[in-house]
Parts: sequence; C-alpha cells; structure tokens
Amino acid sequence: MTVLLWTKQLENGLERMDATHREFVEHYNLVAAALMEGAEAFLPAYDAFVAHTEAHFAQENRWMEAVDFPACHRGEHERVLAVLRDIRKRVANGDLFLARRLVEELPQWFDGHTNGMDAALAFHLQSVGYDVETGEFKPKAEGGACSDSPAGCACATLTATPEPAEQS
Ligand SMILES: [Fe+2]
Ligand SMILES: [Fe+2]
Repeated sequence: MTVLLWTKQLENGLERMDATHREFVEHYNLVAAALMEGAEAFLPAYDAFVAHTEAHFAQENRWMEAVDFPACHRGEHERVLAVLRDIRKRVANGDLFLARRLVEELPQWFDGHTNGMDAALAFHLQSVGYDVETGEFKPKAEGGACSDSPAGCACATLTATPEPAEQS
C-alpha cells in the first residue's frame, strides 16, 4: 500500500498552508488504505478527501486573488479537481482502475505541487506582506510578480487524466 509521509521538505513556512497540507497527507493515507478494501470502503474516504481538497484549493485561490497571483496555479487546481470528480463517478460505477492510478500518482504530484506552485505562492505572499490569517497587508508590503520568485509559478499537472475516448 502506498503511504505518504509528512516530511520537513514539504513545509513552505506558511503555517496555515502547511497545516492544510498535513491534513491532505492524512486524508490521502485514509484513501489509500480504504482502496485496499474495495469501492464501498473507498467512497466515503474519497469523498472526505475531495471535500478537503476543494477547501484546500479554494483557500489558496482566495490568497492568490488577494495578491493578484498568476492564474496558472488556479488552473492546475481546477484540472486536478476535474480528475478527482471524474474518478468519483467511475468508482461509483464499479470502475476502480483510475482510482488506483490516482493513489499511485498523487504522492509525486503532491510533492511537485507543494514544492513548486505552493512554494512559489507562499514565498510571494510573504514577500508582499500578505497575512493569510487577517487578509490584510502588513505595513511594509511591496508588490512583486510571481516570476520574481525563485520557483516562478512552477506549472505541472497530473498525468492520470482519462483519455478523451474513455470519458463518459
Ligand atoms: Fe496546496
Ligand atoms: Fe496549490
């Protein structure tokens, strides 16, 4: 069974973001364990994971909107949610193939996304002095584009996307 471990390397130094990512890891591990027991056990764990991921991405999207962050990161969130929802439908119809692929692929995607796009966002929020707890800018706030950050916007996506011919 695939297990995702929380490591220091996944921390971006933004407490709220790191806490949400630790929850993502916990949800993922519950989903991976439930998959071993079949669709009936999988779906409740998966639904909780998807609900958490929707809130996780919406939180980051709100921060991006507040600091006028480039849209590629939001687009990546939307692509991933579309994959998650498609897989939900397939599992409900008894098809676990892509769910297994997703569980195999998510750790690598999460590592890349967290250390790429999310790291760039955390860096940018801190560099412009945006406080995610209050939604306000600290007095010394200065503007800056995503391309100024070391990680850029770091666009990357899941490859467990269904083939067009397979879509229902
Ligand atoms: Fe994130
Ligand atoms: Fe993100």
